[in-house]
Amino acid sequence: MNNNIVAVYPGSFDPPTKGHLDIISRASKIFPKVIVAITENYNKHHMFNLQERVDMMKESVSNIKNVEVDSFSGLLADYLVKIESFFVIRGLRALSDFEYEFQMALMNRTLNQKIETIFLMPDQIYTFLSSSMIKEIAGLGGDFKNLVPEPVYKRFKIKNNL
Ligand code: PNS
Repeated sequence: MNNNIVAVYPGSFDPPTKGHLDIISRASKIFPKVIVAITENYNKHHMFNLQERVDMMKESVSNIKNVEVDSFSGLLADYLVKIESFFVIRGLRALSDFEYEFQMALMNRTLNQKIETIFLMPDQIYTFLSSSMIKEIAGLGGDFKNLVPEPVYKRFKIKNNL
């Protein structure tokens, strides 16, 4: 039994949502240390740059002691080797997430046999929530205040001159 287990929660977090926070909170109760690792997703167009996403996440998790925020570029598999942690946390909201997550988990394990992906389910009230939906609602003037952490809402308002 290894008491120094570190779990890595990677993602683009553009922006962090309360669904992400729910997963981080659950992971922090299971693992002694959780690193939220923020990166670019080359399949997505990001609204917030990497530094903005790191800052928003740091502010959002500041009350959880065993959570750190980091960023990386390149392959997740290489980042995991660098920090010597091989447990990856991903959130599963619905069956629709499964195919992509399954593919990613097995690809990461193909790149490095040590990598294990652990899926956590958010509270059911967040199963419909995604960063892209938040961006769409915000862009169309809808109310999303209760769906994102407070620091994220503030930054949205600054960015969009609201
Ligand atoms: O929050 P997202 O955008 O769904 O997260 C996807 C992410 C960033 C975890 C994934 O795209 C990733 O790991 N990117 C780093 C590059 C990489 O390792 N690609 C191969 C993944 S099998």
